[in-house]
Amino acid sequence: HPAPPTTLVIFGAMGDLTRRLLMPALTNMTRLGMIGEDFSVLGIGIEPGDDDTLRTALATFRASAPAAHASPEQEAAWDRLQARVQYMQGDFTQDDVYARLSDRLSGNAAFYLAVPARFFGDIVDRLAANGLTHESKSAFRRIAIEKPFGHDLASAQALNARILSHVAETQIYRIDHFLGKETVQNIMTARFANMMIERVWNADCIAHVQITAAETVDVGTRGAFYDATGALRDMVPNHLFQLLAMVAMEPPASFDAEAIRNEKGKVLKAVRAYSPAKARRNGVRGAYGAGTIGERAVPAFTASPDIAPDSTTETYVALKLMVDTWRWAGVPFYLRTGKAMEIRDTEVVITFKPVPFAQFHATAAEKLPPNRLIIQIQPDEGLSMDINIKRPGLEVDTAPIALDFRYADSFDIGAMTGYESLIHDLFAGDQTLFQRADAIEAGWAAVQPFLDAWASEGAPDTYAAGTTGPAAADELLARDGFAWHTLDPAKT
Ligand code: BG6
Repeated sequence: HPAPPTTLVIFGAMGDLTRRLLMPALTNMTRLGMIGEDFSVLGIGIEPGDDDTLRTALATFRASAPAAHASPEQEAAWDRLQARVQYMQGDFTQDDVYARLSDRLSGNAAFYLAVPARFFGDIVDRLAANGLTHESKSAFRRIAIEKPFGHDLASAQALNARILSHVAETQIYRIDHFLGKETVQNIMTARFANMMIERVWNADCIAHVQITAAETVDVGTRGAFYDATGALRDMVPNHLFQLLAMVAMEPPASFDAEAIRNEKGKVLKAVRAYSPAKARRNGVRGAYGAGTIGERAVPAFTASPDIAPDSTTETYVALKLMVDTWRWAGVPFYLRTGKAMEIRDTEVVITFKPVPFAQFHATAAEKLPPNRLIIQIQPDEGLSMDINIKRPGLEVDTAPIALDFRYADSFDIGAMTGYESLIHDLFAGDQTLFQRADAIEAGWAAVQPFLDAWASEGAPDTYAAGTTGPAAADELLARDGFAWHTLDPAKT
C-alpha cells in the first residue's frame, strides 16, 4: 500500500544517516511504490546551498557507494525521488528555521531528527513552540528519532518526559533499526504461527537462551561517540533487548501495535533488577587489544583515534539475565556483544532441555545432544533446528542433524536497508515496530545496575582483536554448565 501523502522533513539532511540509509531506503520505496508522487522530502541543514546542492550531495554519495543493487529500475526511482527533494538552509538551534518551516508546511508531516541525540529535546521544544506539532483531522504531525534515548535510566526518563510534555505518545516514533530487519520481525511469526514451536517455548522445555551480536568492525572513526558510550549502552538496552522481548514476550491478544507493545513492555519490566553486587557477578566486560581480524591489523581500542589512552570504556559485554515470569522461571538469558571480534554474527540460540528419559543405547543416550533452535539474524539470514535422528544401521543409535532454512534460497531480502518498512509505517501511522516510552525505560532500568557496578571500576579485561572475547565470558556460562554457541567462521 502506498503511504499517505507526506512531507518528510529531515533535520540533518547532509548528514551520514540521511545519505547512507534514509535516501537509499526512500529510493527503494519509490521503486516499490511504497510512496507515491505526492510524497516529498524537505531537508534542513546548516550547510549553505539550495535544492540542487542537496540533490548533488546525495547523487555524489550514491555514485561513491557500492552499487550493490544498481538497476535501471533503481536509477529511474532515484530520478523520480530526487525531483521531489528540497533543501532549506538553516540552524535548527535557532527559531527562524521553524518559522520558515511553518510557512512552507501544510498537511501531513513527519520530522525525522537525523541529528546527534543531544539536540532531540531542543528540536522538539521548538517544533512545538512554533505550532508545528499540532495535528488536525486532515494533517498528522509525527516525530522520528533514533537511539540513543538517554545515557542511563534518569536521562531516558527526562528525555521522554520532555518530549511527551509537547506531543502525544502516538506522535513519537522511536526507531530501533533492528526492528526493521526481516529476521527480527520473523521471530514473532516463527513463534506465533507455529504450534510446534510455541507449545514448547517455556521453562519446562527450554534450558537457556543465548543472544549474540558479534561484530568484526572496530571503533574506526566513531571514537568520540563510542568512548562516551561503550558496548553496553550502544547495543544492550536497545537492540539486544528488542531480540529478548521478541523471544520472551507473551502472545499478544491481537496484532495491533498497542497489544504488541504492551507485551514487549511487560516482559522487559520482568527482567530481574540486580543489586550492583549481583550485576558484578552476572556481567563481564572487555576491551579489545591489538590484533588481526582476517588480514586486517587492528590497533588496541585505547590506541584508536579519539579514545582516551586511559579509557575504561568496554567494547564487549556479556550478561546473564533472568526474566521473572512463570514462563521463564529459572531459564537464564545470556547476552553478548562486542566489536573487533573474530566473526560477524547476530543470532539467537534456544537450547532445549535434555529428553527426560532416553531409552537408546547407553552410549548414544549419554551423547544425546539437546535440541537447539538457531535464529540467524545476520548475515546468512535463516533458521535452523538441531534434532536427533536414528543413525541408519542395525544398532539403535542416534545422530544429530540440522534442519536448515536460508532466506537467500527462497527470498530476496538483501536489497533492503531495513528502513523501508520503518519509514512506511511512520507515514502509515503504525507504531508496532517503534519503541514506546515504557519499554525504553524498562530497558535502561535493567542495565542500570551494571552501569552502577562498573562506574567505579578500572579498565575492563582485554581480549585480542579478532578473537571471541574475554575468557571471563566463557566462565559466566561454564558456572551454569553451559557454553557459548560456537560462531561459524563461514558466515563472516
Ligand atoms: C548501531 C550501533 O546502533 O548498531 C553500532 O551504534 C552497531 O555500534 C550497529 O555497529 C549494529 O547494527 P547492524 O545492523 O550492523 O547489526
